[in-house]
Amino acid sequence: MIPVMNVQRQYASLQKELDEAALEVLHSGGYILGPKVAEFESQFAKYCGAKFAIGVGNGTDALVIALLAAGVGAGDEVITTAMTFVSTAESIAQVGATPVFVDIDPETFTMDSSKLEAAFTSKTKAVIPVHIYGQAADMDAINEIAHAHGALVIEDCAQAAGAKYKGRRTCSLGDIACVSFFPTKNLGAAGDAGIIVTNDEALYKGCQAYRVHGSGLNGAFTYARLNGQDFDESKIDFHGNLPKYYNYIVGFNSRLDALQAAMLSVKLPHLDDWNERRRQIAAIYNDKITNPALSKPTVAEYNEHIFYVYPMKVNNRAKFRAFMEEKGITTGVYFPVPMHEQACFATLGYKHGDFPIAEDLAEHGVTIPMFPELTDEEIQTIIDAANAYTE
Ligand SMILES: Cc1ncc(COP(=O)(O)O)c(C=O)c1O
Repeated sequence: MIPVMNVQRQYASLQKELDEAALEVLHSGGYILGPKVAEFESQFAKYCGAKFAIGVGNGTDALVIALLAAGVGAGDEVITTAMTFVSTAESIAQVGATPVFVDIDPETFTMDSSKLEAAFTSKTKAVIPVHIYGQAADMDAINEIAHAHGALVIEDCAQAAGAKYKGRRTCSLGDIACVSFFPTKNLGAAGDAGIIVTNDEALYKGCQAYRVHGSGLNGAFTYARLNGQDFDESKIDFHGNLPKYYNYIVGFNSRLDALQAAMLSVKLPHLDDWNERRRQIAAIYNDKITNPALSKPTVAEYNEHIFYVYPMKVNNRAKFRAFMEEKGITTGVYFPVPMHEQACFATLGYKHGDFPIAEDLAEHGVTIPMFPELTDEEIQTIIDAANAYTE
C-alpha cells in the first residue's frame, strides 16, 4: 500500500544526524529545557521572521497557553473556523471561553473572512484562523476586522509551518501563532511537540510562565499584567530559593523536550526543500489528474501553499476510497465532522445546515498520498488510479 503520510522514509534520509543528535542529548543529561530547546526556539523564531518562540509539549497546549497568555477565559468568546482539527476549538473551551464558528471559503477551505464580521459580539476576545491543509488564511482581512474590534489574532499554524502569505511566512502574520510538530506534520518531531511564536514581549513572557506552572518572574509579571496591576520587579523576592517554586498563576507542565528540540533542529534546515517537493508533487497532481469526478485544490494567488495534504472533493467518497484501496493507495479524510457538529460541542446549540461549505467538505473531502519522499513511480501509480476512477 502507498501510505497517505509516512515518517519512516524521512527518518531514513537523516538517520545519521538524527541518531547523533539524540545520543548527544542522552549523554548530556540535560533533558528539560536548556540549550537545545533555546537553540531550536531561536532558530524557529528566525525562520518565521518573528522575535520570540516558546517550545511547548504539543500544538494543543500551544493554543491553550496562547489563549491564557492573551487573557482569554470564562465568559469570553473566540471565533474560529468550522473546519479544523478539534484542538482549535477544544483549546477555546479548555480555557473556559466559548467557541464561535464561521464557515469556510469554498475555494481555499480557510475561514471565510467575508463571514467574520457577523460573528463578533461584545464578548469576542480573539480570532483563531487556521492555515488549513498548508494554505494560509486571508490574514490581512482577518487582522483588520479583528483588530477593529480589539480582538487578538492567534494563527493556528499546525498544518502550515513554512507556508507563505503575500511573501511573508505564517507564524508572523497575526499577534501570536501556534505550531504542532506532531510527527506527520511538515516539520515533525519524534513524538509530541509544539511551539508558540510572537513578536509581543508581554505575550512571550506569559507563555513562558504558563508552560512552567506560572512560576518565577515571568509568572509574577503575567499575573500583574492580566490583573491590570503595575509590575515592580524590585518587589519580587525569592528569598534565595529557586524562582520555579514561587507560583503566581495556575499554569501547566508543558515544555518542549530537549530530545525533540534536537530532532527539530536537525530537520528545520530541510523544511523549505521538503515543502518545495510537496509543491512539486501537487503541481504534478494538478496537471495530470484529469478525472472530472475529482475536484482539485485551489491556491489563493497571494499564497504559497505547502500541501500538508492534497485536499480534493469527490461525490461518492466511500466508493472512491474503496477503489483507491483496491489499487494499493491509502486515502485520508480531514475531517469527517465539522466543529459545530462534534458531539463535544452539542451544548453550543449549532445545527446541521449552519455552515454548509464546511459540511460539504466534511462529506466529500478526500486526500491522496502527500509527503516529500513519494517516489515518481508512486506518484504515477496514484495519478493513474485517480484517473481510472468512475462515479
Ligand atoms: C489545525 C490543527 N490545530 C491543532 C493541532 C494540534 O496539534 P497537536 O496534535 O500537536 O496537539 C493540529 C494537529 O494535530 C491541527 O491539525
